[in-house]
Amino acid sequence: MCGIVGVTGRADAQSVLVEGLRRLEYRGYDSAGVCVAGPDGALATERAAGKVAALSDKLGARGGLAGLSGIAHTRWATHGAAEERNAHPHRAGRVALVHNGIIENHGALKAELMAEGRVFVSDTDSEVVAHLFDAALDQHADPHDAWRAVIDRLKGAFALAAVSETAPGLVFGARKAAPLLAALGPGTGYIASDAMALPEDAATLIYLEDGDTVVVGAGSADVRDAQGRPAQRKQAAGPGVFGRVDKGPFRHFMEKEIHEQPEVVGRTIAAYVHLADGAVNLPAKVDFAAMNRLLIVACGTAAYAGMVARYWFESLAGLPTEVDIASEFRYRDPAFSPGDAALFISQSGETADPLEALRLCKAAGLVTIALTNTAHSTMAREADIVLPTLAGPEIGVASTKAFTCQLSALAALAIAAGAQRGRMDAQAVKGAIADLSAAPRLMGEALSLRQGVDALALDLARSDIVLFLGRNSLFPLALEGALKLKEISYIHAEGYPAGELKHGPIALIEEGVAVIVLAPMDALFDKTRSSIEQVRARGARVIAVADAAAAVALEDQSALTLVTPDAGRLATPLVMAVAVQLIAYLTAVHKGTDVDQPRNLAKSVTVE
Ligand code: G6P
Repeated sequence: MCGIVGVTGRADAQSVLVEGLRRLEYRGYDSAGVCVAGPDGALATERAAGKVAALSDKLGARGGLAGLSGIAHTRWATHGAAEERNAHPHRAGRVALVHNGIIENHGALKAELMAEGRVFVSDTDSEVVAHLFDAALDQHADPHDAWRAVIDRLKGAFALAAVSETAPGLVFGARKAAPLLAALGPGTGYIASDAMALPEDAATLIYLEDGDTVVVGAGSADVRDAQGRPAQRKQAAGPGVFGRVDKGPFRHFMEKEIHEQPEVVGRTIAAYVHLADGAVNLPAKVDFAAMNRLLIVACGTAAYAGMVARYWFESLAGLPTEVDIASEFRYRDPAFSPGDAALFISQSGETADPLEALRLCKAAGLVTIALTNTAHSTMAREADIVLPTLAGPEIGVASTKAFTCQLSALAALAIAAGAQRGRMDAQAVKGAIADLSAAPRLMGEALSLRQGVDALALDLARSDIVLFLGRNSLFPLALEGALKLKEISYIHAEGYPAGELKHGPIALIEEGVAVIVLAPMDALFDKTRSSIEQVRARGARVIAVADAAAAVALEDQSALTLVTPDAGRLATPLVMAVAVQLIAYLTAVHKGTDVDQPRNLAKSVTVE
């Protein structure tokens, strides 16, 4: 969602800010803006609807903004349309401010400020904060006190950055339920919503906590807690040059990330199992034997990874497992019982709903486990147990490698649970690990499906609707296939359990409708085959994603079969994930959509 960058102490402040915004583009946004404090302290702002490139063009046309400090923002519209006048930074008197999140009491604050004669020019909830800060600077000698007084009046979720003509060289930051960090380099200071936005000299990252305010100067950061007391916060080394990511030889980040999967899934599996011994070796201790029930909570693709894992936890470990969409879970007064543990899956570790669900479970006394791709994220910091996925930075908004890394870590956890709960002996564990550890190689082989998928994708690009069907652990993969396709190609796609076909979706079938069926030769193959017959009889064009044996059995029934390498039960969803990802990716390429930054979507949804 919205991205924030702030800088001070850099002669090239504007370039650092614009480059930071470019690096945050992957998060999803629809307008951008920058404000630089000039050598005389006067603030100059430029904003543009659309992409950072449009902002750059405008900056170029006016000869750039000179100055040592400033703030910048990519906005994902919540209050007010994606127009230039709603883009950040917002100006009020001597202040400029950027905001990520939602100020819930902005209505009351705006009425109060208007009564004082202040004039508003945008439809945003954010503009009130700029006015409050401008007013507070008159009432407090210390600008940090003024900033704290403003933050104390805000309700809702926010990450904020501001500059003022009255405090040259300082950048003000605050966070509550939205990510923000500070960083320092030699004689420089930064604020960012994501370390990815920082330049190489940001050597030390300072992780702000909820309620914190910070004032960053050239080489200094004054952090205060919610009570206004000086606070020391966790520090880590900055991303440096190694944190940088580019597309390499690929056309899109999504394409690159699909191709990286054999490597990053292999790396993740190696963090969870001892390949040579055929034994599990979790990166953190998890007591599955003590659990009576596992609650898995997540959003989007991460929730689908959890749904796949449910089949594994229940059948390998006899562990009752429930999977919930975080936004539903947190508001439905979930009932807990002794022995419940909660597992939160999140690539970013910052998604608002699972984070709040984690806090809810923690307050209820449950053991909380975060499975995340971001080691220093808020969820990682707050959970009792942190388990990593080692996908590396994922830039494409549509998740691919993070998903398969989640699946591989979850499979290892299910094996560990099976062993701890006495459901799997050493031999069974060894067999399951062999199944899982074949996944990286088989996913590598599955990448060669690209040729076959390309012709299919050309056809799908002309479809109005596509159905994905699967059974058992491949039902959630059908959901994921449909989600990927709709996210990046904007084609209406639905995922269904094959057995549910007759209860509704079959009404959508008419001549030529594409139905993609995930059909490995497993115990349920015959049932899957009969679903294929039912849609075929009504004119559907069946595309089977099948292993070699199933491909032979379906020879006469599918219009096209994408033959995936033979895989065991744990590796099959990982291997077939490559096929559904390629289908979505290549269809979007044929449609000519913005694959890495699809319309309206954000990489990390940090507001409700
Ligand atoms: C957004 C992204 C999805 C992601 C979901 C959950 O919707 O576009 O790709 O699956 O958020 O994100 P998380 O970071 O919590 O895994």
